Amino acid sequence: MAHKIAVIGGDGIGPEVTAEAIKVMEAAGVELDTTDFDLGGARYLRDGEILSDETLAELRNYDAILLGAVGTPDVPPGVIERGLLLKMRFELDLYVNQRPFVGTAPGHDRPHDFVVIRENTEGPYVGEGGVLRRGTPNEVATQGSVNTRMGVERCIRYAFELAQTRARKHVTLVHKTNVLTFAGDLWERTFDEVAAEYPDTETAYNHVDAACIYFVQDPHRYDVVVTDNLFGDILTDLGGAVSGGIGLASSANLNPDRTGPSMFEPVHGSAPDIAGQNKANPTAAVLSAALMLDFLGEPDAAETIRAACDDAGSGSTTSVGDTIAARVRE
Ligand code: NAD
Ligand code: IPM
Ligand code: MN
Repeated sequence: MAHKIAVIGGDGIGPEVTAEAIKVMEAAGVELDTTDFDLGGARYLRDGEILSDETLAELRNYDAILLGAVGTPDVPPGVIERGLLLKMRFELDLYVNQRPFVGTAPGHDRPHDFVVIRENTEGPYVGEGGVLRRGTPNEVATQGSVNTRMGVERCIRYAFELAQTRARKHVTLVHKTNVLTFAGDLWERTFDEVAAEYPDTETAYNHVDAACIYFVQDPHRYDVVVTDNLFGDILTDLGGAVSGGIGLASSANLNPDRTGPSMFEPVHGSAPDIAGQNKANPTAAVLSAALMLDFLGEPDAAETIRAACDDAGSGSTTSVGDTIAARVRE
């Protein structure tokens, strides 16, 4: 049966790269029943809809959501990002953001292969806090980080389960326990308790600042990295940058319990600086579609697509998409 896919191209390069991802999946012979959802900055400016509860309810009827990117300089920062992307992550309980990185970092002579498991529903993203005396010299803004035992544990448990499927079986916790003593303590204790259930799995801990050094200078030390929402956001742009570029970085926003659809999107954003110029690398979107196919039980098509993405080149958006699609058809 055809997979029912909700497609949100979104803003900037989002629709451009998403079109290539669909082209490649169709070339791979995957049966898709796609529905375009006109959401993002342009829609918001037209009629005010960001993501209504009715549209969200409709999205629940799909097997998966394929998203390009959202956010545009025409709308104040956060309006679309929070109202659309974060609303989906929170409401659909997409509590794992899985971001794989395979590539050769600058100055290294062989590829690394690690995956970041980013907690996706908590931390500073929750929006806890507020502002007092806005616009005055005495303005105070606070933005708290919410970390629940349940939320932290399910994410860490996912990371350990994923490690069981990998050759090295190694999990690194990344946090900032030396400063964020409340949240860090919760993460560290939970990590240690879950780790005790996996005696064959090796573990490590890095402070997030040091992890930035190792991502660049020693990425081979990593297998599975688990971290909070904001650290994971920042580290995964760095992960992309050291793994062939942000144009290759894919992600899966997963509801591992499958109580609704999961969402698949590149790590990168809407890239307003290159939008509309057929310049964006569509590979991140194509590889995100491959993650979607893995999740939908099509591992062969996913693997074919991944292989076709190897050195697919750096031409225009459509020509890279065409190259990958042609290889997939062979
Ligand atoms: P960005 O990822 O859009 O761009 C950062 C840099 O990377 C830019 O120089 C851009 O040209 C380049 N780049 C990104 N994707 C590329 C690709 N596929 N090929 C080649 N180059 C690529 O980050 P930004 O500029 O900080 O954000 C722009 C907008 O996107 C903001 O509104 C932001 O909130 C939003 N955003 C959305 C998502 C998402 O929807 N998942 C992710 C990140 C940022
Ligand atoms: C990402 C993006 C989002 C995030 C923004 C657009 C809300 O940067 O998916 O990495 O911070 O999670
Ligand atoms: Mn990001």
